Amino acid sequence: MFSSIVFAAFVLLASKMANAASFSQAASRPSTGDVTSAELIQMGALPNCSTATQFPDECRTAKQAAPFINQAFCDYNISSNGERAALLSLILFESGGFEYNMNHFPAPGRPGQGTRNMMMFPFIFQYALDTPSVALQAQALAGHNDVNDIPSDTQDAIRALVLPDHLSFASAMWFYTKSGDSKTGCTGTPGMVDGLRLATLAGWEEYITNCIFTTVTPERQALYEKTLDILLATTSGRN
Ligand SMILES: *[C@@H]1O[C@H](CO)[C@@H](O)[C@H](O)[C@H]1NC(C)=O
Ligand SMILES: *[C@@H]1O[C@H](CO)[C@@H](O)[C@H](O)[C@H]1NC(C)=O
Repeated sequence: MFSSIVFAAFVLLASKMANAASFSQAASRPSTGDVTSAELIQMGALPNCSTATQFPDECRTAKQAAPFINQAFCDYNISSNGERAALLSLILFESGGFEYNMNHFPAPGRPGQGTRNMMMFPFIFQYALDTPSVALQAQALAGHNDVNDIPSDTQDAIRALVLPDHLSFASAMWFYTKSGDSKTGCTGTPGMVDGLRLATLAGWEEYITNCIFTTVTPERQALYEKTLDILLATTSGRN
């Protein structure tokens, strides 16, 4: 049930976006298929890793990335084009088209930060603890330290547990649906899921500012819009 305040906000948002209604309907329709490597390349993923000379081990081609991304959308039940576009454009942006798996800039990079959505260490740690296959190792490495007292090299060792592709390409989906004290990620934030599913610009801005807690930039927005356009074009083509 919506509270009246949330509902009023939603009505306001909906009326603001009325001129985008048919577009929004398409965006909230469940996506019928997997994202392809050709689509990922159109969005900005690297077709090959020949230019990734600095950290070649971290680079994944669009073809390598696609199955892990599709598996993660499936595992975390993220089916709308609007949500998929927001998460996909985020990981493309944060990882430089899947060139990077760890934070490097400014050099030498922030300890413990990484995966394809470049999560900060506290979320890396929570993700590791939340992942049955690596949880015990993460807990053993951390010992009795509070998350803020874990030394940098241990932060990096815990990060390494979640860098394999099947976990790294799924961390944005985990963050959106499972992170935080509530273990519901951003999905419990009023209006968040509906805003992304409707694929309004306001919905995406809300995701960037109140889920990712970063700043809307023209670069991020352009990538989101391009990603959404590509997903919508494919979905309507398949329907
Ligand atoms: C590799 O990708 C770059 C773009 O990142 C492209 O210019 C180049 O043609 C590609 N090389 C091969 C061999 O496909
Ligand atoms: C996805 O949905 C299925 C079926 O409703 C459910 O069993 C599963 O736990 C959900 N996955 C997540 C990660 O919430």
